[in-house]
Amino acid sequence: MSTDKAILDAARILRRGGLVAIPTETVYGLAADATNPKAVARIFATKGRPGFNPLICHVPAPEDAARIARISPLADRLITAFWPGPLTLVLPQRPDSPLADLVSAGLPSVGIRMPAHPMALALLRQTGRPLAAPSANRSGAISPTTARHVADDLGKDVDMILDGGPCSLGLESTIIGLPDDGTDRLLLLRPGGITPDQIAEICGIRPEADQSGAITAPGQLLSHYAPRGQLRLDAIRAGDGEFMIGFGAIGGDLNLSPKGDLIEAAAGLFAALRQADDSGASGLAIAPIPDHGLGLAINDRLRRAAAPRPAKSDKGRAAAPRP
Ligand code: TXA
Ligand code: MG
Repeated sequence: MSTDKAILDAARILRRGGLVAIPTETVYGLAADATNPKAVARIFATKGRPGFNPLICHVPAPEDAARIARISPLADRLITAFWPGPLTLVLPQRPDSPLADLVSAGLPSVGIRMPAHPMALALLRQTGRPLAAPSANRSGAISPTTARHVADDLGKDVDMILDGGPCSLGLESTIIGLPDDGTDRLLLLRPGGITPDQIAEICGIRPEADQSGAITAPGQLLSHYAPRGQLRLDAIRAGDGEFMIGFGAIGGDLNLSPKGDLIEAAAGLFAALRQADDSGASGLAIAPIPDHGLGLAINDRLRRAAAPRPAKSDKGRAAAPRP
């Protein structure tokens, strides 16, 4: 099927309330028409996602964001610098916002981003609706960075998977909250592809770690991105029966980047966790990753992947029997 035909088909499915897995530059998203409450509800059901976790709304242009949320001058500066790209802004939602309440899980704020992947942008324009899209994996499991990952996880539960190749960045967007309290503050709700240094350089304001404890984001839940096997961090060599993921000079069964490049490591991280899981090894070990630049986001994901699991697991990858 040609790309153009696939995008027309996907747009038709979305306008009828269907679910389409879409490529973005960060990870694959599980998309639905954000103005259709039933379609959005299907995202939660398919992911097995707790209903209180809000979704990110994707738009094809900044003007479309302005119809949904109030854009402060500070937000506008971030949008000009980083859209399209891996930056989600949590902004005050307008009273006349067209979004289904479920997208923001009833919160007065809304998370919005304009993705950079050409197929995602073409689909957003063709559909003519904002698209709610969390990562296209079961809640708590490893995010998908290829169409095959999505098919393995969600297969028959989605109406269509749009294949746009492997995601170039491979980690979810940075989420920045702009509190609606008259102050010019930035809250780092999730580290990602855009680093705090890049944001400080544009705004002259450094994003603060969120202290409120009120964020109900799955990315904020401790156990997340979880492989089936237990993951050991900062490993120098593999232990008995462990699959070792190397970085730089520390080798292993695979190496995220022999030359120690964090961009290359980010792009391959989730696929590496899946490969380690599928190897049948009893555990996973990973070399230390430098904690600066993109390494901040990589280490955030690794800490969550290594965190103790909730006793009663959802139907995610963490609980799935080996095929
Ligand atoms: O890169 C990405 O952001 C990918 C691609 C598909 O765009 N999407 C993604 O979505 O990672 P998801 O749903 O897996 O993560 C979105 C995060 C969640 O942790 C959610 O709770 C948070 O954004 N979020 C969304 N709206 C929010 C709000 N109003 N306040 C606080 N957090 C919010
Ligand atoms: Mg996710």
